[in-house]
Amino acid sequence: MNNADALNKKDVALWSLIRAELETLYLVSQVLSKSIELEQTLAEVLKLLHDQGRLFNGMVSLIDEDSKDLMVCAVYDNNDELPVEKIRYQPGEGLVAIILQNSEPLVVERLADDPRFLGRLGVYDTELPFIGVPIKINENEPVGVFVAQPPSGGELLEEQTRFLEMVANLVGQSVSLSRMVVNERRALEDERDKLRREVKAEYGFDNIIGHSSVMRHVFDQVRQVAKWNTTVLIRGESGTGKELIANAIHYNSTRASDTFIKLNCAALPENLLESELFGHEKGAFTGAVTQRKGRFEQADGGTLFLDEIGEISSAFQAKLLRVLQEGEFERVGGLKTLKVDVRLIAATNRDLEAEVEKGDFRQDLYYRLNVMPVNMPSLKKRVEDIPDLSHFLIEKISRKQGRPLMIMDSAIRLLMRYDWPGNVRELENCLERAAIMCEQGQIDRDVISLTGLQENTAPHEIVRAQSSVSLDNPDLDERERVIAALEQAGWVQAKAARLLSLTPRQIAYRIQTLNIKVLQI
Ligand SMILES: Nc1ncnc2c1ncn2[C@@H]1O[C@H](COP(=O)(O)OP(=O)(O)OP(=O)(O)O)[C@@H](O)[C@H]1O
Ligand SMILES: [Mg+2]
Repeated sequence: MNNADALNKKDVALWSLIRAELETLYLVSQVLSKSIELEQTLAEVLKLLHDQGRLFNGMVSLIDEDSKDLMVCAVYDNNDELPVEKIRYQPGEGLVAIILQNSEPLVVERLADDPRFLGRLGVYDTELPFIGVPIKINENEPVGVFVAQPPSGGELLEEQTRFLEMVANLVGQSVSLSRMVVNERRALEDERDKLRREVKAEYGFDNIIGHSSVMRHVFDQVRQVAKWNTTVLIRGESGTGKELIANAIHYNSTRASDTFIKLNCAALPENLLESELFGHEKGAFTGAVTQRKGRFEQADGGTLFLDEIGEISSAFQAKLLRVLQEGEFERVGGLKTLKVDVRLIAATNRDLEAEVEKGDFRQDLYYRLNVMPVNMPSLKKRVEDIPDLSHFLIEKISRKQGRPLMIMDSAIRLLMRYDWPGNVRELENCLERAAIMCEQGQIDRDVISLTGLQENTAPHEIVRAQSSVSLDNPDLDERERVIAALEQAGWVQAKAARLLSLTPRQIAYRIQTLNIKVLQI
């Protein structure tokens, strides 16, 4: 063989290798762009190198982001079995750690000849050469090491090292992308869990105020019913806390980590209500440009809260009955029957029994809904809850306004004399108005009376007895004490003076200097 022949033979071998490498590189890039599940894609890459890229017994190890240890991530394995236990390298340990330390490729002609080789993995052929390259992300510190074994040493080793470097660069990009996604996912999951905890705390029983016996009864019922999947019908006047209770049931049930979806049935005309609840197929009606999931589907596995259920038409009642009976429905314009697992909570302030009697509400639907009725008492029926509620709501408003707020007992006693047709919501609105009008943040009866409450105020016999305070209470300041005495004396000054052991002149003087306005309650 002459020189030219020998050169030719070398060229042919090189070109054949480069062709195989190019083809492999193309396939490797495909595998890496397919998925961000690193361990699985890396195993596929090692198999490609072995089968087509003329690099055998590959291994990828990456630095673990949390422990900073170099861990074996994928090893070429003919039987598609990854090592059960992950191997970690100590700093400076073996060839792999040296590559990481120097951040440079390392080539060994015959593995058996290198004393630094530890052979811990047991996958290498010690008769073959060894190539190891660092895996880098954007020229930074290496994040891992990629090693493989070419079938023979000699002149092609240099080319094969360059090729392994190229593959390692592609792997570096994938590692970077996958870590970004993993970190983002982790951050989102943390955020989600935090929000879930906050929502759960917000809708916990602690935030539903009421020590009256009627409210205690409600709590007992709700605690019991939350455990089961039973349909709940919450009844009660406007503003009594029906939505609050619906939330509490969901967030204290086994479905708490699934969705809570609500829909106000009174807010939509019937045709929209249907597509909102059951969803629609693309082209089901003008404007249905895409397919859309309805609230029932969105709530699958969780809870659906249908507010103002008493407002739905009789045609719609029939459709709802079917879902409740069979758990089945079709999207508007759809033929496929869908099945969902949804816990239903409904609420109404209507007298459903009377509606059934009149024929305006289907009796069968009424029975389906009324499995577990919870009646929210009006605020008028639980006046004794007003002090706690007021303090709780003032704290809530204070947080919202970002400033300290305080409510005086005289203000609370005034609140207890009102009828509250709008229930807790009206109380909350009244206190919010009072807080806005009160610059110092100390809400007393004058501020409350300025909210316009006084005009609606009607005498309330039961309350008078309940709202009496001890005049010896050391916490009462002078003004509060005089007001309390006047209230107890029915605003007869002479009587109030006697209660405070003052003369009528003295009390008149105090009323004037303390600027106490006489309210006609
Ligand atoms: N027991 C309670 N403790 C604390 N806050 C309450 C209580 N009951 C009601 N609230 C508050 O009062 C407001 C009205 O409550 P909610 O919206 O639950 O009433 P509702 O019965 O659904 O009223 P509507 O029938 O008008 O829809 C809300 O801000 C709620 O947080
Ligand atoms: Mg409501």
